[in-house]
Amino acid sequence: VSVVEEHVSKMVGTGREDEEYADVDWDNLGFSLVRTDYMFATRSCREGNFEQGCLSRYGNIELNPAAGILNYGQGLIEGMKAYRGEDGRVLLFRPELNAVRMKKGAERMCMHSPSVQQFIEGVKQTVLANRRWVPPPGKGSLYLRPLLFGSGASLGLSAASEFTFLVFGSPVQNYFKEGTSALNLYVEEVIPRAYLGGSGGVKSISNYGPVLEVMRRAKARGFSDVLYLDAETKKNMEEVSASNIFLVKGNTIVTPATNGTILGGITRKSVIEIAIDLGYKVEERVVPVEELKEAEEVFCTGTATGVASVGSITFQNTRTEYKVGDGLVTQQLRSILVGIQTGSIQDTKNWVLEI
Ligand code: COI
Repeated sequence: VSVVEEHVSKMVGTGREDEEYADVDWDNLGFSLVRTDYMFATRSCREGNFEQGCLSRYGNIELNPAAGILNYGQGLIEGMKAYRGEDGRVLLFRPELNAVRMKKGAERMCMHSPSVQQFIEGVKQTVLANRRWVPPPGKGSLYLRPLLFGSGASLGLSAASEFTFLVFGSPVQNYFKEGTSALNLYVEEVIPRAYLGGSGGVKSISNYGPVLEVMRRAKARGFSDVLYLDAETKKNMEEVSASNIFLVKGNTIVTPATNGTILGGITRKSVIEIAIDLGYKVEERVVPVEELKEAEEVFCTGTATGVASVGSITFQNTRTEYKVGDGLVTQQLRSILVGIQTGSIQDTKNWVLEI
């Protein structure tokens, strides 16, 4: 029995924590918040180191009205998934990459951050304590949302004096209401998502609020999501609201290079590595939207979205259909990635962490 399991079993809970599965309709999970049992939190001390941290019942948190997160947007999110394999093992996928990405984001946002080890420990404890919320094999995953935010109070514009690292989870299945059907994307030609020198390359909360209205308008017109262009020329593809984008052209797979405006997705990185292993040529570079015309397949990648096929991309009011065809390359990449994440394909790269 690990220290964590011992700790959790000693906690005063609902008495249902021993059940194998929580009472969830596993066949009808989407991407809505499902309240789980526990969350994990730790705070930084004055020197910037984080305390050991502990689990508490999932619930509201208290914040000073002058907290850095509320006043000056000092906040980062991460997204991860824990899968239950057919053999019952619960697996995390490349958690150290999330930890490192949070560190990088913290530097950009003038925040202290937990060590890689503390990050992974907090995530592990959250999963173990909420094990009954990890969906059965093939029914989805426990989505984990590590947060880092300025919890210290400050009136003038300055970095918070204290930061909180918090992890919660929610069982999820498909991110889009379209399920696994191909997405129809709307190209936003006026409002960019990020600009050179900004925070587009890190997972700052400040990247997400400003796209909500653009997304709302696109969704009201029946689109699944929005594809953003570069702020400078408005000629090149950048990314979709919550995912990276790829084009397939024969044996070549093309995706916008991470130049500071595009989020370095962990699914993006993993798909690139899988594609190279399979013998595809992968090009990370500037990708003019014009090039969409030559694409045989288009797909998006992200932790929440997975590897999602794109069926059409619309410029203004002229709907241009990009046939996904049978989407064989997308399907191949998706099935290998999911196979590794769920333990059904041997993990030769040491990507999965059993907890
Ligand atoms: C993720 O893919 O995990 C994300 O953080 C994107 C989020 C906006 C849903």
